[in-house]
Amino acid sequence: MGETVAHILSFLTEFFGEDFQSYSQSLAEKRIAERVKQLRLSGVEEYRQLLRRDPGEPAYLSRMLRIRFSSFFRDTLQFELLRSQIMASLLPASPGGFLRAWSAACAGGEEACSLGIIIDETLQLMDVRPKVQIFATDVAEDALEEGRAGYYTAGTLGGVTLRQLNTYFTPDGNGYRISPEILSMISYCRHDLLDPHTFAPPESLFGGFDLISCRNFLMYLDPQAYLRVFDNLFRALNPGGVLLLGKAEAVPERYHQHLVRIFECGNLYRKQQAGRN
Ligand SMILES: C[S@@+](CC[C@H](N)C(=O)[O-])C[C@H]1O[C@@H](n2cnc3c(N)ncnc32)[C@H](O)[C@@H]1O
Repeated sequence: MGETVAHILSFLTEFFGEDFQSYSQSLAEKRIAERVKQLRLSGVEEYRQLLRRDPGEPAYLSRMLRIRFSSFFRDTLQFELLRSQIMASLLPASPGGFLRAWSAACAGGEEACSLGIIIDETLQLMDVRPKVQIFATDVAEDALEEGRAGYYTAGTLGGVTLRQLNTYFTPDGNGYRISPEILSMISYCRHDLLDPHTFAPPESLFGGFDLISCRNFLMYLDPQAYLRVFDNLFRALNPGGVLLLGKAEAVPERYHQHLVRIFECGNLYRKQQAGRN
């Protein structure tokens, strides 16, 4: 199975001109086995042949490999620690100040909106109104379209409190619309975290980020790609800035001195100022 799966990933890489070989082999094997079962095929080899014949299948498989699931405040403890203990320290105290955040691999924007809500809640307690910009990036254009539309089904709102629901959402049909104030903080743009030619979204070239959230993406990569993407995230994070990772993701050993865990739990890290260990 392993060799055929490697062929399939190399085929997708060539087909789309994007790197599919950096996703972990075990994830790919699992997803392809699921698809073989769904289609009632005899095995992976038959699926490999079908991929070449059926023009819709490569896009279907790519979507299965780039798992889309997300929700608001997906790790409630992590977001609560960010809101109550950290966010005020990231927001500049001077009126002309700037906060730049990046939600990398943002899916339909649930995470970027969660950050926007926390920032707004913190600003309500402060006298200054610094400029806030949240870059939300993903490789999937249709995910970005969902983010720009700002419309969410009730199933994605599990971590939202009733007060937040009343303040930041408007009911609309079977779902909810995020408030224009939050939506206007966010710039959605396509960025492939595995693209070897870029290290951060081009729209962000004017500076680093004070806050980066890259959650539930690194866990799907092979170890080399994990390190390569992590290097880029580290480079894009300003000294003193904060990084949020998913529960199943860790800081590689080479960064242990430079990214300090802020609390025992919550997977939040602060980048040390230059010169400090
Ligand atoms: C499981 S979701 C995580 C969403 C969100 N960060 C969260 O934790 O809820 C993984 C996301 O990674 C995106 N993704 C997959 N490969 C990518 C790549 N090479 N570059 C950028 N995003 C990618 C997928 O499109 C998907 O939206």
